[in-house]
Amino acid sequence: MVVAQGQRWVVLKFGGTSVSRRNRWDTIGRLAAKRMADDDARVLVVVSALSGVTNALTAICAGDGIPARVEALVERHRAFCADLGLDADRVLGERFGVLRALGADPRAGALALDWQAEVLAQGELMSSTLGAAYLRAQGHDVGWCDARDWLDAVSLPNASEWSQRLSVNCQRDVDAGFGERFAAQPTAMLITQGFIARHRDGSTAVLGRGGSDTSAAYFGCLLKAQRVEIWTDVPGMFSANPREVPDARLLTRLDYAEAQEIATTGAKVLHPRSLGPCRHAGVPMAILDTERPELPGTRIDSAAATLPGVKAISRRNGIVLVSMESVGMWQSVGFLADVFERFRRHGLSVDLIGSAETNVTVSLDPSENLVSTNVLEALSADLEEICRVRVIVSCAAITLVGRGMRSMLHKLSGVWAAFGKERVHLISQSSNDLNLTFVIDEADADGMLPFLHAELIDSGAMPVHETGVFGPRWREIEGQLRPKPTPWWIGERSRLLALADGPTPRYAYHLPTVRERARQLAAIEAIDRRYYAIKANSHPEILKALVAEGFGLECVSLGELRHVFAVLPAMDPARVLFTPSFAPREEYEAALGMGVTVTLDNVEALHNWPDVFRGRRLWLRIDLGFGDGHHEKVTTGGKTSKFGLAAGRVDEFVEAARALGIGIVGVHAHLGSGVETRAHWRQMYDDLAGFARRIGTVEVLDIGGGLPIPYGADDEPFDLRDWAEGLAEVKAIHPAFQLTIEPGRFLVAEAGVLLSRATQVVEKDGIRRVGLDAGMNALVRPALYDAWHEIVNLQRLDAAKDGVFDVVGPICESSDVFGHRVQLPAGTAPGDVMLVADAGAYGMSMASTYNLRALPAEDVIE
Ligand code: LLP
Repeated sequence: MVVAQGQRWVVLKFGGTSVSRRNRWDTIGRLAAKRMADDDARVLVVVSALSGVTNALTAICAGDGIPARVEALVERHRAFCADLGLDADRVLGERFGVLRALGADPRAGALALDWQAEVLAQGELMSSTLGAAYLRAQGHDVGWCDARDWLDAVSLPNASEWSQRLSVNCQRDVDAGFGERFAAQPTAMLITQGFIARHRDGSTAVLGRGGSDTSAAYFGCLLKAQRVEIWTDVPGMFSANPREVPDARLLTRLDYAEAQEIATTGAKVLHPRSLGPCRHAGVPMAILDTERPELPGTRIDSAAATLPGVKAISRRNGIVLVSMESVGMWQSVGFLADVFERFRRHGLSVDLIGSAETNVTVSLDPSENLVSTNVLEALSADLEEICRVRVIVSCAAITLVGRGMRSMLHKLSGVWAAFGKERVHLISQSSNDLNLTFVIDEADADGMLPFLHAELIDSGAMPVHETGVFGPRWREIEGQLRPKPTPWWIGERSRLLALADGPTPRYAYHLPTVRERARQLAAIEAIDRRYYAIKANSHPEILKALVAEGFGLECVSLGELRHVFAVLPAMDPARVLFTPSFAPREEYEAALGMGVTVTLDNVEALHNWPDVFRGRRLWLRIDLGFGDGHHEKVTTGGKTSKFGLAAGRVDEFVEAARALGIGIVGVHAHLGSGVETRAHWRQMYDDLAGFARRIGTVEVLDIGGGLPIPYGADDEPFDLRDWAEGLAEVKAIHPAFQLTIEPGRFLVAEAGVLLSRATQVVEKDGIRRVGLDAGMNALVRPALYDAWHEIVNLQRLDAAKDGVFDVVGPICESSDVFGHRVQLPAGTAPGDVMLVADAGAYGMSMASTYNLRALPAEDVIE
């Protein structure tokens, strides 16, 4: 191949797993050739040692069992050469000699640092040498170069001897001739080692763990490369560690500062040090998956749009806190200087800082010398001279990363609430407004991340709908996602458009969907009785349809009860529940008079109105002490909730009821709406059964409603089968009671859409808004709960969604917004019929005439 002058480099880095198998080397050759062709580039391949080799070399550096370990490494490389069809002695013979000589080196006795660096360097020297030989054998025109001839270690002020040899930084600014000299190497493709550099005394230094990424970045920087690509065995950086949070989103585009913060605070995929050199030179980086090169990966560059919001949440374990107590510190000059001087002396860098009048607490960067030496003891002894020291180990730092953290605090209430339950040692907010960190005990952090991640999405703090930054979820990439079925309204488009010719806004309800949901629940064997919570949607046709499907009805007011019997005069009152909250006495009297099943949730009513309840059969609603739900405003359990009898007062209730000759025949709990946690209902069922046994007269256990539906485009349908299995397990333990449910949302939400017409399209300060004739008076959920509803332009359903709009209503409230940054056809225009999906539950039933705008009309589709 002829090397053209001035061709710019693309640097490709491959880690241990990517260089340890023959087929992976084929991939390396293929990718390099593709880059040369597609990008008109020369390619520099930077490689790590074969997987496990650096660990083995580190063990050699510790000094024990050296000869055996050296021979094992020789064998390992021989075996791999055989795999690659290479003659090991010819390719690696010389390097085996060097390795053996290092094993017998007199410096080994004292574990000299320069000797260790040389030992550690052998892994990359061997992998790059055999890789070059293999690629040549496959017909690639590839040269090999020694990274130490190009990367010079620099010594930073205050760096320890150890880090100046075994965790070095390299020169980032070079003379003008560097690029030319490097380009003078004859082949278009070159292979070199990650991790190693030239010490200023001419011998070897290494870059520390993760050093290969950093080497690639240094080369990218020095060569002013087109791009540095880090090829690994994961698809890129995620909004959380996918092993802990399967719903984590791939981050497809980041700027350097955010990527730096994410890498520093947890993501193992890219070493934090590697961002600096590329950022310095403005060289774009990409993290890509060797096994799945078609995935978008994570791209990092300075042109990435700055999007406010949390991009990632991470957890770092093994955090060490040093708490320093000093009585005389307040306003005393130089205390902090004294303290930090001592950290410097021990080569320790401080990460987070919290301070009070008499206490300073810092966390230490988890560095290698922290684990490999007894530096903490020495530091403590030193600090004791000026203050009282407490070292708190085994902490976890949970960090939210993203731009504009300070202006997002109002969206983080759920996150704060979650931490409120734990012992928080330290909260720190970075001065660059990019991160917010909570330090808690490691054990307390277990299981928190999935919850926090979901909370960030629900609250809108993590704007996952921004497709320029957030890619698919991990589960989706892994093929574990159950797709959302096509919504009914796609097939009914022309009917809906015709309906929208009438006055808008108007709701349309698809009865076949209501029936389908009803039948899904009816098919669950463990459930004995089903009621529909009519507050979700009390349209007569929906009530009729559900009663015809065998559902009873659950009401919360006299108004709802009267509505039920007006719509269904023949309805058996035994199939109607009355579960009010703080209702007036007359409503209880009327309900009991109608013969429906009344649920009571406090003792005071028995004391105050004994005559109303004397001799009746009642159900008892209990607050089991916990709540859940899609928003704090729909959580109906726990201390702060107004619902249910406190569990601690059940005995009191039972006693008062007995005195009045009341039979408690049912116990009930409904602890929240839109609950995603499967364990929620199992727990309720089990707890209620416990109370039922204590009470003795109970026949029915009602575990409420609360089933969620997939509002978001990439939410998964609720896993009914899994839910049913959970219920069946509990039923097997408590078979004596009839299991009852009373969902609302699940039955009707997806069956309903809100149709409206666009009124105006207006641009203001860079934001385009499309106004609808429906506002928060027609559908209050977005304004009230920050709820997400899919919005489409039904008129232009087939047009590309190539515009971004805020969708707003006509109400004089700033919360009158249906969605921010909604993707719609750019040509969306006044008069277009717009559809808000999944609006069948708590849409019309919560609508108002606020601003004296008329209530929406309603249609039913069979
Ligand atoms: N049972 C009782 C006693 C309830 O209070 C509720 C709802 C349900 C059953 C039905 O819950 P579902 O299955 O629909 O989650 N407006 C809010 C929801 C408020 C729920 C009130 N109680 C929203 O639009 O999300």
